[in-house]
Amino acid sequence: MLPQISSTSELNPGMSHDVRKLGISPDHWYVVCRSSEVTNKPVGVIIWHQAIALYRDHTGKIHALEDRCPHRQVKLSHGNIVNNEIECIYHGWRFNNTGQCTEVPYLETNQKLPSCQIRTYAVKEENGFIWLYLGNNPTSRQPLEIPEWDHLNYIATVSIINCKAHYSYLIENLMDMYHGHLHQDLQAWSQASLQNIEENENRVDAHYTAQSYYRIDKIWSISQLFFPALRKLHPEALDVSYVYPHWVSTLGQDFKIYCLLCPINETQTKAYLIHFTSLNTFWRLHKLPIWFRRWIKNSLFGAAQKLLDGLVLQDVKMIEEEQNAYLKHPSKNYELNRALVSVQRLMKNQVDKFR
Ligand code: FES
Ligand SMILES: [Fe+2]
Repeated sequence: MLPQISSTSELNPGMSHDVRKLGISPDHWYVVCRSSEVTNKPVGVIIWHQAIALYRDHTGKIHALEDRCPHRQVKLSHGNIVNNEIECIYHGWRFNNTGQCTEVPYLETNQKLPSCQIRTYAVKEENGFIWLYLGNNPTSRQPLEIPEWDHLNYIATVSIINCKAHYSYLIENLMDMYHGHLHQDLQAWSQASLQNIEENENRVDAHYTAQSYYRIDKIWSISQLFFPALRKLHPEALDVSYVYPHWVSTLGQDFKIYCLLCPINETQTKAYLIHFTSLNTFWRLHKLPIWFRRWIKNSLFGAAQKLLDGLVLQDVKMIEEEQNAYLKHPSKNYELNRALVSVQRLMKNQVDKFR
């Protein structure tokens, strides 16, 4: 019998601050967009109240600068890249990738270039995504590893989550496997039962047992992604982990899902959900030429799109309702899943280190 936790304050023992207003730890790599979104035309993103302009130079390298022209404060991401420098659309001031002003088109002979300095951010391009680090020590951490992204045995599907809610609601949704009830014919699992929780200062691992609807053991099993009637329940381990600030889950041997977070502000969160279907059991596939295996991987990209988008739609609706209800009645929650106690503890401890 699980202990009953009867209110938000009991769920946060010893915590005076509200998890729904919690900031983020700057000491991690966050995902801000997909690699394919950044070209030699600047693009604007927002991570926790900070507007950032991203662009790719002629070598393909990504640069990240504060998205605010020091001249009149308009967005630099409206501008263009000229000779590998970002040029503001308004008066044409130009800035290099260290954030210094290098040109003002109408500078008079007796005037010097302004000494304004734009903030730059540590940025990386890995596994199909652009990762930003907001703290002071970018080499102390690495972006979350996603070995399946390039591995030829995994078929990826990416769904974007845009929800008008604090990131804690999204993470709690993802860690609480008892919400399979919501997903009806889209659900991948049922009868989840929390077995144990492990936690340390960087992660929470919640181990559930469940009945899975999918078994990828024949090449045509992938059609289960499209046809619910082909799915048959069977027991599988269902492991979900909050690897601060992101989320990773495995359902048996067949599925792995990541959720890469980009918290925007206290009531808005963007995230990328990446679903991988494993082809590991098809040992014959491994004997095929690499180019053919890559062709299969690329051709099947997005195979689970309808399923994933459907799940996201259902979850986002609930998460946004939770946020709205919280704004009206901040202390009215009842929670029974003890994994969420650990999740909230981790969020708060991560942020507390930077208070
Ligand atoms: S506002 Fe950017 S150049 Fe004037
Ligand atoms: Fe869900």
